[in-house]
Amino acid sequence: MSQRLRPVSPIWVAGRPQHGEEEFFVTHPFDDSPVGATSWATAGQVEAAVAAAAGAAAECAALPAHVRAEALDHVRRRLDEESETCAELITAESGKPIAWARIEVRRAVSVFRWAAEEARRFGGEVQRLDTDATAEGRLALVRRFPRGPVLGITPFNFPLNLVAHKVAPAVAAGCPIILKPAPATPLSSLHLGALFSETDLPPAMLSVLPVPNHRADQLVEDPRLPVVSFTGSGPVGRQIRQRVPGKHVTLELGGNGAALVAADYPKRDWAAERIAVFGNYQAGQSCIAVQRVFIEAPAYADMANRIVEQVKALPSGDPNDPSCKVGPLISADAAERVQSWIEEAVDEGAKVLCGGGPRQGALVEPTVLADVRADAKVLREEVFGPVLVLASVDSFEAGLAAVNDSRYGLQAGVFTDRLPQAMLAHRTLDVGGVVIGDVPSFRADQMPYGGAKASGIGREGVRSAMEDYTVERVLVLPDVL
Ligand code: SIN
Repeated sequence: MSQRLRPVSPIWVAGRPQHGEEEFFVTHPFDDSPVGATSWATAGQVEAAVAAAAGAAAECAALPAHVRAEALDHVRRRLDEESETCAELITAESGKPIAWARIEVRRAVSVFRWAAEEARRFGGEVQRLDTDATAEGRLALVRRFPRGPVLGITPFNFPLNLVAHKVAPAVAAGCPIILKPAPATPLSSLHLGALFSETDLPPAMLSVLPVPNHRADQLVEDPRLPVVSFTGSGPVGRQIRQRVPGKHVTLELGGNGAALVAADYPKRDWAAERIAVFGNYQAGQSCIAVQRVFIEAPAYADMANRIVEQVKALPSGDPNDPSCKVGPLISADAAERVQSWIEEAVDEGAKVLCGGGPRQGALVEPTVLADVRADAKVLREEVFGPVLVLASVDSFEAGLAAVNDSRYGLQAGVFTDRLPQAMLAHRTLDVGGVVIGDVPSFRADQMPYGGAKASGIGREGVRSAMEDYTVERVLVLPDVL
């Protein structure tokens, strides 16, 4: 299906629309048709954006809360007004099914709403110091101050909402931000740049710079950007941390999300449907997609049947079709890699319960595997594709151990309706979030979100990110008249 070609999107250099050195097309992953174009920022434009951000840091830090909040409210309102256009843009550049793209826009609206609210709320705390005789007659005012300009680097899988998660908290906290979007999906973030240009913020508050990945080091190493907030692959994230040990770095690096189903969990249809849908939403290209499913032995055969039936029922294909649930991966290369991991697991003895057929372009058939070897990539690594691996476990406790048997630890879903099991899971699982009665893919945008182990450091969620972008400073005052 041929797509509507949009006008060339300007890049945003310190709040001003400009064109860079070399134009490139953004293509639709479903059929490779061009859907829009933009240009790479020149070295001079990068320098201008960083210099402007550094120069405006004090002004941005001093902006009254109502100015920051009104700007964020404006962006929220405009996103809401343009929600269908924004959803179409997300689908066009990422191949995400339109139904999921609409949800992504709703979530971004909510992120900007929360950020406007947090900008108004983010205050500080009074701490009493007279708990020891030596500090009698004093109190502490603990406030947070911006660390300075932020570099945000975002991935392709949520071209709008993961950009919102970098930009909105930065503005709420009073930090200028340079945003480097994923090269495959820059259009949604450039559109956000346009919405910000309608606000009264200092123009240098936001730059959106498409920069090829091989030129990103220059930005990462720039001492005028003391905070780097990265969402993307583990190897790149770890390189960033090693490259700039003196900076405040937050990393959201993905995972191989697990769901555990207790033997006596009463809502098996619900669990099977959620596992099927969220193993395959966005073709599995979410850091918290379900990948590993551990089921207590007495429920295994029945749950496996239910999951397979639900997966088979998922409509896949053209992401522009409102009924589509599973669209293409971001590229044919990505699909090729996922396909090769499935084949490798099958060659080593895994059983295909459904799917597993040859890929078509960037489309990979939703696939469910069982009897997978413990060292298979589909189990150990992050698949980032529509693949579920099912395994039976002897007890709830063994299931928790299986969930933890991963170098990742982003979120886990636990299908139990027993409070002691929920509390045990919360205590035991080495992850950033445990979701009871649902899949690991549940995320409310205001909640702290981030990983343990190789899944990253730091937390998103509007308030948590604001804490990352700011630093505590104490004012000790006499508590006497
Ligand atoms: C991610 O894939 O990192 C984000 C998932 C989400 O926001 O739902």
